[in-house]
Amino acid sequence: MNEHNPLIEEVVSAVLSKPKYNAILPGLAMQIAERELAKGRKPREAIKEVSAKLHQVGAAYFKLAPRYKQWKTELENLPGDPADEGVRAFCLKVMQAHSSTAERLPILEDFFRETLASLAPLESLADLACGLNPLALPWMPLASGARYGGCDIFSDLIDFDNAFLTHCGLHAGLTSADVFSYTIGKPVQLALLLKSLPCLEQLEKGCAQEMLENIPAMYILASYPIRSLGGKSKGMRQTYSAQFEALTADKKWKVTRFDFPSELAYLVEK
Ligand SMILES: C[S@@+](CC[C@H](N)C(=O)[O-])C[C@H]1O[C@@H](n2cnc3c(N)ncnc32)[C@H](O)[C@@H]1O
Repeated sequence: MNEHNPLIEEVVSAVLSKPKYNAILPGLAMQIAERELAKGRKPREAIKEVSAKLHQVGAAYFKLAPRYKQWKTELENLPGDPADEGVRAFCLKVMQAHSSTAERLPILEDFFRETLASLAPLESLADLACGLNPLALPWMPLASGARYGGCDIFSDLIDFDNAFLTHCGLHAGLTSADVFSYTIGKPVQLALLLKSLPCLEQLEKGCAQEMLENIPAMYILASYPIRSLGGKSKGMRQTYSAQFEALTADKKWKVTRFDFPSELAYLVEK
């Protein structure tokens, strides 16, 4: 990547100056800007395209403006036990801010019990493109002091997720990183790819296959949304099940499918 191309710098700094994108990974904005300019777009058009892509893959999911500062203050007054009622109520409230976790709330308990019960207690996991899912900790079968890594593209989101996990006694190691350049240092028992493959495919077409093959995890829990952000279903369950089943068809992996009213999930055992 040519970091000193003045046009790329102009586009990236215009995009990152918008409050909606100021905590987003500059490297990702730079990569998209480089691609758009290579298509011959003028900087003004490139700014629009880069902003639209970052909106589509990340910013669009914030239903409510995240209140990290206020949430951190509230957290300080809560016990560090994820089973505590006050902590659970806090998590449910915070998860409403991100569409992806918000739409999982009605199935939260069943989702993690049914998909992960057989793996309990988990000692290590990598939550890739995590959003606010670390706040689902009280519903996940993790051992106390478990290693919780992973990444997302918003630095303020990652900072808050890590603060929450640390508060609850976990070994928190989430990183603000693009999943395509993120490496899981030490193999993990479980990798989560919750509702993120369609989003990542919008950045790198065909990435799902490679990710499934290369993630150093014994198990991968991958899931898909059943409705678009606008609320339309458009046969998404059928489309995504066909896609995922084709990706794993010729593999010697054990794949278990879970159909929830608002989410389609697969547990892959490698
Ligand atoms: C559909 S949401 C899923 C969030 C979470 N996994 C869940 O299920 O609640 C997609 C997430 O992917 C993140 N994301 C998008 N592109 C990414 C990338 N290249 N690297 C890491 N995270 C990314 C977004 O910021 C967003 O949090």
